Amino acid sequence: MKDSTYIKKLIGQMTLEEKASLCSGKDTWHTQSVDRLGIPSLMVTDGPHGLRKQRASADHLGLFDSVPSTCFPSAAGVASSWNRALIQQMGEALGRECQAEEVAVLLGPGVNIKRSPLCGRNFEYFSEDPFLSSEMAAHHIIGVQSQGVGTSLKHFAANNQEHRRMTSDSIVDERTLREIYLASFEGAVKKAQPWTVMCAYNKVNGEFASENEELLTTILKEEWGHEGIVVSDWGAVNDRVKGVAAGLELEMPSSHGEGTALIIKAVQEGKLSEEKLDQVVERLLTVIFKAKDHQKAGASFDQEVHHQLAREIARESMVLLKNEDRVLPLSRTGKLALIGAMAKEVRYQGSGSSQIKPTKLEDISEEIIKIAPDAEIAYEQGYQLSSEETDAELLELAKQAAASSETAVVFAGLPARYESEGFDRQHLRIPPNQIALIEEIAKVQPNLVVVLSNGAPIEMPWLPHAKGVLEAYLGGQALGGAIADLLFGVVSPSGKLAETFPLALSDNPSFLFYPGEKDIVEYREGIFVGYRYYDKKQQPVLFPFGHGLSYTAFEYSNLTVQKNKISDQETLQVQVTVRNSGQMAGKEAVQLYVRDIESSVIRPEKELKAFDKVELQPGESKTVSFELDKRSFAYYDVELKDWVVETGSFELLIGKSSQDIVLTEQIEVESTTVRTYVYHRNSTITDLMQTEKGREWVKKIYAVLPFAAALEGPHAALLQAFMKYMPIRGMLSFSGGKFTEKHLEELVDDMNKK
Ligand code: GLC
Repeated sequence: MKDSTYIKKLIGQMTLEEKASLCSGKDTWHTQSVDRLGIPSLMVTDGPHGLRKQRASADHLGLFDSVPSTCFPSAAGVASSWNRALIQQMGEALGRECQAEEVAVLLGPGVNIKRSPLCGRNFEYFSEDPFLSSEMAAHHIIGVQSQGVGTSLKHFAANNQEHRRMTSDSIVDERTLREIYLASFEGAVKKAQPWTVMCAYNKVNGEFASENEELLTTILKEEWGHEGIVVSDWGAVNDRVKGVAAGLELEMPSSHGEGTALIIKAVQEGKLSEEKLDQVVERLLTVIFKAKDHQKAGASFDQEVHHQLAREIARESMVLLKNEDRVLPLSRTGKLALIGAMAKEVRYQGSGSSQIKPTKLEDISEEIIKIAPDAEIAYEQGYQLSSEETDAELLELAKQAAASSETAVVFAGLPARYESEGFDRQHLRIPPNQIALIEEIAKVQPNLVVVLSNGAPIEMPWLPHAKGVLEAYLGGQALGGAIADLLFGVVSPSGKLAETFPLALSDNPSFLFYPGEKDIVEYREGIFVGYRYYDKKQQPVLFPFGHGLSYTAFEYSNLTVQKNKISDQETLQVQVTVRNSGQMAGKEAVQLYVRDIESSVIRPEKELKAFDKVELQPGESKTVSFELDKRSFAYYDVELKDWVVETGSFELLIGKSSQDIVLTEQIEVESTTVRTYVYHRNSTITDLMQTEKGREWVKKIYAVLPFAAALEGPHAALLQAFMKYMPIRGMLSFSGGKFTEKHLEELVDDMNKK
């Protein structure tokens, strides 16, 4: 291993040109080498749900051919598994594939928060909730890096839309940035130490992310302790020298000497210290040699093993949204109509830089036939996937097949042209010819199940017509087997939504402000993103965050807390018993939300602060344990620039979803935050009442008021309310001259005395 002593010594031997050259890529996918000193070049490439190693031509939009690799479900689905261990296994498999292809860093996971369901890249991100997102990311990273391959946590930060992504400015207030958009990165950085973090294209509060020192150095490196490097998104560098100074170690792709020349010139002109450049080079070399030292020559992987893992992950990533009259699971011997082009022209991944070439790809209808060979299965296309128009002939054939079956399963969702990296959706609808098909089929076949392939929420005007809905998301190369397994009950569905499906786009909190005006994108909804908004507003939704059905049933009991009173410096153990009261084995994602019952700041109605997934046989019970800490109760205080818990009562809520709360417990938390309040002429009577000395002053003030007696009389309540938020200087106007500027000065001085 090349330790820091070796690296520092090496830096001492490097020329300025060699140092500067390391700060930019050699080409689209490789870092620079310095052969003279044995500094190797590394290959970095996408990610996140599969390896996209391009053969010949290189692009960063997934346009050209790449080496076959396992296509796992995309992040929107994987997050719905709520299964840390499973996503870690996916990471391990990705790491093995990278080793086999001599790729040193896999560019992912993507953890941008789902501010709007319109974002074209939401399929590639985990959640609307920063805690769930950061936990999924952390275990993805731990898995990949356990194989000696690096990751790139992206896109740092506030890259929540594709519209004008390379020039737009995300204007986010500090508390919202901290509690929502940065928290999704923070947890993953602290828990998993990704070798690299990828900075976003956009500006954050006026400064390009690629040269934003507050983000890249103050917060990421100094506050969170990130030890690796920041790599730019491809083409995200605006001012290379400013970027180096701000903490951007690596520009990608190569700028063919431009970036290098600017760095050399800046050092020579004294505009960039060579000491700063050395710090940058030290971080780069640390990652380069770590990767080199971990390379496993001759590594290989078993494609079939990874394919089966992809199937297992896909099964846990799909969400059973509706199951009326237990229309699911299907009988294996019934008459079944499979309808929809998307059963054959499957949508299993998103478009853009994450698009890979799978080692194999399952046909959903074939996998269904394999699982139910005795079923009488008819397939009809139902619609042209490439068209929006209804094809009357296809529709008629589909209706006939549905009418003569016991159950009809319609495959619908978003065609690739509807959602992708690079642009946002304009609405939440699926193609009109699919909507028409569902509604027409429902007229002839009440036992209707809809299977959806989409990377982000859709509106479902047809929902009343379908007895069953399975959200398959973008299920990866093994989606066919996974869907078949779930439809026939080989395993019970266990996915739960990691994002809210709104009834209508206009219900979404960002609706009024998204995607902004020209390059200005104001996050005016603040912290009220996703369920934080819908719950606070009590806004009905189509399907809530955390929702997902099962073929079995789970009973929750015996919520216990280690203590009912803690200080914010302590951790709190919480336990709950979950029992499988059904007839089938199943897994359950148990959710723990926290509510600040009374707070002086505006807070969401509740926030997810812990979760775990448990597997239970019929009749089996298990105790699920959680540990809460200060951050479970805290909000970000922009005055103190720190996380603060307010003393008081909090409610712990155990939920099957964010809206299906089954057990609650109240606890008290004592804050240890010391706030040194500085009194001034506009401090209020209420501010004074917080201390004994202040209350004495209030007595003195009230005593000289012309209406002193009335403060105790029949109108006391009104007068006390009137006085509650009165600034002390107000006494100059209401004391009949008895309370003077001199008195005011004496009071303020006395109150600020230690
Ligand atoms: C793309 C994406 C980023 C990807 C990179 C390399 O533009 O924004 O996620 O890793 O370029 O393809």
